[in-house]
Amino acid sequence: MDRGVRDGFTTTFGALLATLGSAVGLGNIWKFPSLTGSNGGAGFLVVYLAATLLVGLPVMIAETMLGRTARADAVTTFDRLAPRGQGWWKIIGWMGFAAALLIMAFYSEVAGWVYAYVFKAMMGEIATTDPKAAAVVFGKLVSDPVSSLIWQWVVLGITGVIIAFGVSKGIEAVARKLMPLLFVLLLVLCVRSLSLEGAGRGLAFLFDPDFAKITPAVMLTALGLAFFKLSLGMGTMLTYGSYFREDQNIPATAARVMFADLSVSLLAGIAIFPAVFAFGFEPAAGPSLVFMTIPAVFTSMPGGVIFMTLFFVLTAVASVGAILSLLAVPVAILSERFGLARKTASIATIAMIGLLGVPAALSQSLTAKTTLFGLNPFDLFDFVSSNVLLPLGGILIAVFVGWVYGLAEPEKRMAAEGPMLSRMAIKTAFFLVRWVAPLAIGIVLLNGLKVF
Ligand code: PHE
Repeated sequence: MDRGVRDGFTTTFGALLATLGSAVGLGNIWKFPSLTGSNGGAGFLVVYLAATLLVGLPVMIAETMLGRTARADAVTTFDRLAPRGQGWWKIIGWMGFAAALLIMAFYSEVAGWVYAYVFKAMMGEIATTDPKAAAVVFGKLVSDPVSSLIWQWVVLGITGVIIAFGVSKGIEAVARKLMPLLFVLLLVLCVRSLSLEGAGRGLAFLFDPDFAKITPAVMLTALGLAFFKLSLGMGTMLTYGSYFREDQNIPATAARVMFADLSVSLLAGIAIFPAVFAFGFEPAAGPSLVFMTIPAVFTSMPGGVIFMTLFFVLTAVASVGAILSLLAVPVAILSERFGLARKTASIATIAMIGLLGVPAALSQSLTAKTTLFGLNPFDLFDFVSSNVLLPLGGILIAVFVGWVYGLAEPEKRMAAEGPMLSRMAIKTAFFLVRWVAPLAIGIVLLNGLKVF
């Protein structure tokens, strides 16, 4: 697609799979378990589930609908749909532009760790159930500035090659065929993890909530994760929606993606937490959690090294769909607003991420002490994007659709979209968009940022 000529998803099923490919990624395998672990477990999970159902799903419907109505990038969409004289709604698109770059700066680093772990798995370097030994391997990787940077650049380079050769559709198609395999591998991990001695404590950690642990900051993190997981609040779903066909059933697509994404996250949680307690890992270990515990579960199985390698290969593959969808936002803005060819826009975006990525990649080494609000660059980029920009984008989208653009037009269109939609479902979704999402996000955001 070059200079203003828009193509789109040719089938509704293809659009569903691409949306799913955006949602399912390192967020499920890496971020969800690490945040659940460091925020107290089950209580966090309850807030995350509520945020996903009551806020995430309706915002996803609203955001996707905006894109399909305007058929434009995340900035231009608001040029087209905002009432005259209210051009400032475009800020949503620009915030999305910024969020995409910030997220990619650390996401590409985590993807780099996954790539590195493919080789470590193959060499048998991580075949251990000993928390100390596992921590040494991970620590060595992330605290070495050279390898941190190289792995990040490998990820960005491969992404660039995929785009430059125009094979992203092909690669995504391959990725989708492999995803069921990742699902199966997660199921196997769950069974093994649950059969470990002491697994019960992990299950209790994950499913028996202690509400005393839910502070305003924890709530904001859970809300931010809900947005991050569903790729919401920054124009990704808007941009994908702009490629949807007219007859795509948006609420049904959103609901399916949400359920599938939740299932993968829960499976990852069930695969990890029983093992955390069984082997004596620290649940609050943070970003390193997955990289230490998953190999431990595989190590305790026959054929562990092979499965472990396969697991990291599949996780790397899963990250591709998410990465391409993150890039889609700035690339669409640069190509549609500034008339850049898509390839040029992609290379420019990757170059910006490469620059921004350097401090993030070095966060366990050279920039560890370069902090703002006590956060190193990696954590800062994560916090600003997930806990500030995405919820802020979400609230603005909900208010725009619920109160400014209005619901009459979307209601008419959605009612015509397919059998899964009862009027009740549409009415509920719109009630959530109009009232629940803005109020819930507003309260959680203000409390979480200690503005009150
Ligand atoms: N949802 C993706 C994941 O969980 C990450 C992502 C966030 C993708 C925001 C696009 C936009 O891995």
